[in-house]
Amino acid sequence: MKNIRNFCIIAHIDHGKSTLADRMLEMTQTISERKMQDQALDNMDLERERGITIKSHAIQLNYQHKGEEYIFNLIDTPGHVDFSYEVSRSIAACEGALLLVDAAQGVQAQTISNLYLALENDLEIIPVLNKVDMPSAMVDEMSEEVVDLLGCELEDIILASGKTGLGLENIFEAIIERIPAPEGDPEAPLQAMIFDSMFDKYRGVIAYFRVFNGRLKKNDAIQFFNTQSDFFANEIGILKMDQVPQEMVEAGNVGYVITGTKDSKEVKVGDTITLQENKCEEAIQGFEDVKPMVFAGIFPIENDDFEDLRDALEKLQLNDASLIFQPETSVALGFGFRCGFLGMLHLEIIQERLEREYDQNVLTTVPNVSYFAYTKKGEKLTINTPNDLPGPTILDYVEEPYIRAQIISKPEYIGGIIKLCMEKRGILKNQQYLTTSRLELTFELPLAEIVFDFYDKLKTISRGYASFDYTPLDYRQSDLVKLDVLLNSENVDAFSSLIHRTKAVAFGKRMCAKLKDILPKQQFKIAIQAAIGAKIVARENISALRKDVTAKCYGGDISRKRKLLEKQKKGKKKMREVGNVQVPQKAFLDVLKLD
Ligand code: GTP
Repeated sequence: MKNIRNFCIIAHIDHGKSTLADRMLEMTQTISERKMQDQALDNMDLERERGITIKSHAIQLNYQHKGEEYIFNLIDTPGHVDFSYEVSRSIAACEGALLLVDAAQGVQAQTISNLYLALENDLEIIPVLNKVDMPSAMVDEMSEEVVDLLGCELEDIILASGKTGLGLENIFEAIIERIPAPEGDPEAPLQAMIFDSMFDKYRGVIAYFRVFNGRLKKNDAIQFFNTQSDFFANEIGILKMDQVPQEMVEAGNVGYVITGTKDSKEVKVGDTITLQENKCEEAIQGFEDVKPMVFAGIFPIENDDFEDLRDALEKLQLNDASLIFQPETSVALGFGFRCGFLGMLHLEIIQERLEREYDQNVLTTVPNVSYFAYTKKGEKLTINTPNDLPGPTILDYVEEPYIRAQIISKPEYIGGIIKLCMEKRGILKNQQYLTTSRLELTFELPLAEIVFDFYDKLKTISRGYASFDYTPLDYRQSDLVKLDVLLNSENVDAFSSLIHRTKAVAFGKRMCAKLKDILPKQQFKIAIQAAIGAKIVARENISALRKDVTAKCYGGDISRKRKLLEKQKKGKKKMREVGNVQVPQKAFLDVLKLD
């Protein structure tokens, strides 16, 4: 055990975690040159296409140092705020963290928040100033920032480049010398914490764990402590580029177990694995439950696919513990699920993963945050969908969630940033210079104002030179109204939103205009209206398709045409009938992209 080191790589988004991990894989010959491709650990297609890490990835490396053989369990983590739950779980499996800071960009918002996460878990921090090969690197200045942030010595900072491989030897040495070897008793009853899991079509649930005490052997009769379910460890092993089966995984080490179960509800991330005979006395304290920030309905395009969708969500949840869902009914859309996400990027990724990995054809309704409604009788209700809001005779008042936002940018963009935050009903609480060229602003803002397009606007205003992070703060009373959208006088509940009274009319107008763009012309005229209560506040019309256009469709060889039509039907339906109006799948999300 004294030669094991468990650590993760944490950083602000794009500061080079995955690239540095690539070099580590190469230098330890964990992956052959022939198989090497950039960001080797980002194995999901979506991650490669978008160039971002979505999942944490655990891998074991072997390293020789001063004649000794070391085992490194490395976890590469995502940088985007929406995936911070992945980071917090990875941290729970480690004793140390490499904190990467881009030498051109310096300390950014998620550098700070990820560092705090690691410190709360008592991890040993190794600061690495990365990308020093870049012409724009400002090594001295940024090193000073890191010293300020950590209160460390200048000599503690390792200068590195994931691109050229510079500094890698020093990093390996620091991992061995500075990160403590895991503690734990291999002779004690088994206690292994599940920090991640996934579903494999053929092999069922695969759980990734870190053993804190005891040892897990192949074919052991095991129990998941909290769910109290019993299984056999059909296969156990360690994680290299592929899973490598072993006879035993001992205290201090990281591995995987396959029990053969296909029931995703049996295996919970955060749970403890123990042995049925010789049980441990208590579970390892897992990590905090996730708090979703944004809610939206996910509905199957075809009503019949509801059960398939449930199954897919359950399986996806195994691999994404931050996804939560419960059944929901919509008048317009029928049966579906109300899902909680950590942000809009998370929502987008879930929707895409459902389509790609589980072949589900879904639509997502207009997202909203979670509110508290207080009734005149003094009851407190949680409102995760605008349609749950009680009517005016029952409702007393509504509270909405606020967050504390940290924005780091250059002085020349501060004016624009403050203006943006004011427009979003923000309150400036503090501003301080980190260096002469970078300033940190602290705002209190309603969560509802930042989840949708705030980050994009911030990036535009600051030409990309602003980083942003937020933490939940409290709930505050707010003057919110429910805005409904009607298509041909029929209320489409899936388009409803709760919005601050001062913004409701303008929002309704823009929503109608946007829907006019999005909805395809149909055989009849469509009236789009926005309403607050019984009052219509905005209206647009879509004229009917002209006859001759439709006529064309029916020309030509009828049987060929019919075949074509059949074929199209089999292809994925991208529309959903709402009342008598065809609504495209993406309409509910696109209406939010208002500008
Ligand atoms: P997320 O996981 O999505 O937060 O990103 P990341 O931190 O893993 O960053 P990634 O390794 O994907 O690198 C981001 C970009 O920086 C890529 O375009 C890399 O090619 C580039 N990059 C990474 N490391 C270096 C480096 O040492 N030098 C230079 N010049 N570029 C680098």
